[in-house]
Amino acid sequence: MEFQNLTIENKERIQYIIINRESKLNALNKDTLAELHTAFTAAFNNPAVGGIIITGAGTKAFVAGADISEFAGLDVKEGRALALKGQINVFDLIANGKKPVIAAINGFALGGGLELAMACHIRVASETAKMGLPEVTLGLIPGYGGTQRLAQLIGKGKALEMILTADMITAVEAHQYGLVTHVFCPEDLLPKAEELLQKILLRAPLALAAAIHSVNAGFNDGTNGYETEIEEFGKCFGTRDFQEGVDAFLAKRKAEFKGE
Ligand code: COA
Repeated sequence: MEFQNLTIENKERIQYIIINRESKLNALNKDTLAELHTAFTAAFNNPAVGGIIITGAGTKAFVAGADISEFAGLDVKEGRALALKGQINVFDLIANGKKPVIAAINGFALGGGLELAMACHIRVASETAKMGLPEVTLGLIPGYGGTQRLAQLIGKGKALEMILTADMITAVEAHQYGLVTHVFCPEDLLPKAEELLQKILLRAPLALAAAIHSVNAGFNDGTNGYETEIEEFGKCFGTRDFQEGVDAFLAKRKAEFKGE
């Protein structure tokens, strides 16, 4: 698959999706969003891929936001359509993905960039990273799920302060807020993200998917997270991986899961 704005690299069962528009600080234009849709759909359906790390090309930015140059001239209907399409095709696609996705935040993660990181299941950051939702400086609000996911991740009060002031926070502050789970020096960011994902990939793949689905269910309007958990828990008993996990535990050996 050929991409103009992304680089894809495979390392054993980990797939890297690298946003590669360095001259524009990896800002998300329409083409990049379309490519992200294609790349994530392919990764989720590719049995050779166990999990994904998404990061930005270069050292300066993860993603400095949606491409502001594409906003000029949009009307109310087009603005709504932009948010709707982006949320469904990219941000919800990643959040609801059946494989773990880690955002390795290597620099600025602003606006749509922070929203992209927040759609991922886990976030780790370089100590040089800066994060924020500065849309109100443009007369806008976050449109790719930012008002919801930031409040879910760090609480309503801090989220409103960040969104209303448009201030950027440092990686250390993001760690204190619980927005990222680890902060590393720049050289360690990708090796440590890989280490974390490798550990996750030792676990049963169908159980990982069931866990992601169940945790997400509690944050979806109209779904009962506890009921989803009961259903998903039950389904796990029908998997070969469950048999393997229990057999391995009883035989005091390491489980080898096949995702079946
Ligand atoms: N959309 C489009 N282009 C962007 C962009 C964005 N969100 N963020 C950065 N760029 C472009 C700049 O226009 C510039 O392009 P040019 O060299 O063709 O002029 C290039 O990326 C480098 O950015 P620059 O602003 O010169 O870098 P800087 O180090 O001075 O500042 C930032 C870095 C991140 C503080 C600044 O680029 C910025 O504020 N970006 C917008 C952030 C934002 O509001 N995002 C939310 C969008 S909803």
